[in-house]
Amino acid sequence: MERYLGFLFCLLVSASAVSDWNILHQKTKNGLMISLKNYCESWKMNVELHNIREFEVVPDECVGYIGKYMTSIQYQVDSERAVHESIVYLSTSCSLKNDGRDAWIFDIDDTLLSTVPYYKKHRYGGEKLNLTSLEEWMSKGKAPALEHALNLFNELKARGVQIILVSSRREHLRSATIDNLVDVGYHGWTGLMLRGADDELKGVKEYKASARKQLIDEGYRIWGIVGDQYSSFEGLPSARRTFKLPNPLYYLF
Ligand SMILES: *[C@@H]1O[C@H](CO)[C@@H](O)[C@H](O)[C@H]1NC(C)=O
Repeated sequence: MERYLGFLFCLLVSASAVSDWNILHQKTKNGLMISLKNYCESWKMNVELHNIREFEVVPDECVGYIGKYMTSIQYQVDSERAVHESIVYLSTSCSLKNDGRDAWIFDIDDTLLSTVPYYKKHRYGGEKLNLTSLEEWMSKGKAPALEHALNLFNELKARGVQIILVSSRREHLRSATIDNLVDVGYHGWTGLMLRGADDELKGVKEYKASARKQLIDEGYRIWGIVGDQYSSFEGLPSARRTFKLPNPLYYLF
């Protein structure tokens, strides 16, 4: 079994190295057949495992698969599970002090608001990011809510946890972002941190870690973070727990 998996792994590594699914190569010397679906499922899984990093585009051959996933019930179920685990943690492992210093951090894009409608028009991550066009879309403020995240948001609020939004969106999108959030049902957050000119010189990971440092210096206890990117969790200081939502569309670092 181990040799079998090892072989599959080698096959996938070489397949991803040439980044070109080839129908002729779908059969290994051992006779192991792998389909395009196997290949793309494994690509997605390894993105979520953080084995694949810093990818610029979704592999061409997997655009169809990723598009299907992002619009599937499975994506919703995966997201709902992450939210459910956050609530389990909140109920069993957080001794909230209710002194106005219990805090929870959320990302915005593909955590509270969905960018799927934008990526649907841009080959589900199969095109290189065009920041101008993405920001044009964001400035319209038409992103839908991720329903499960909204439930968690409200649950946290009901428990008296201060909600801080820490996003890699840039400052110039502040009013469009607030309008969009309020429009789809989010209100009552304590802080909304966006990327200023200084922060743009930093990577997302450094920017988000320094935002956490600032909050901790202000006396907040960060019980948890919900985000769709590893750069939302990595670096110090960290939160007590982090909850990753699925996102195979793009990688921020
Ligand atoms: C990026 O998007 C802008 C706005 O939609 C467009 O004008 C520009 O041509 C695009 N750039 C590239 C390289 O596609």
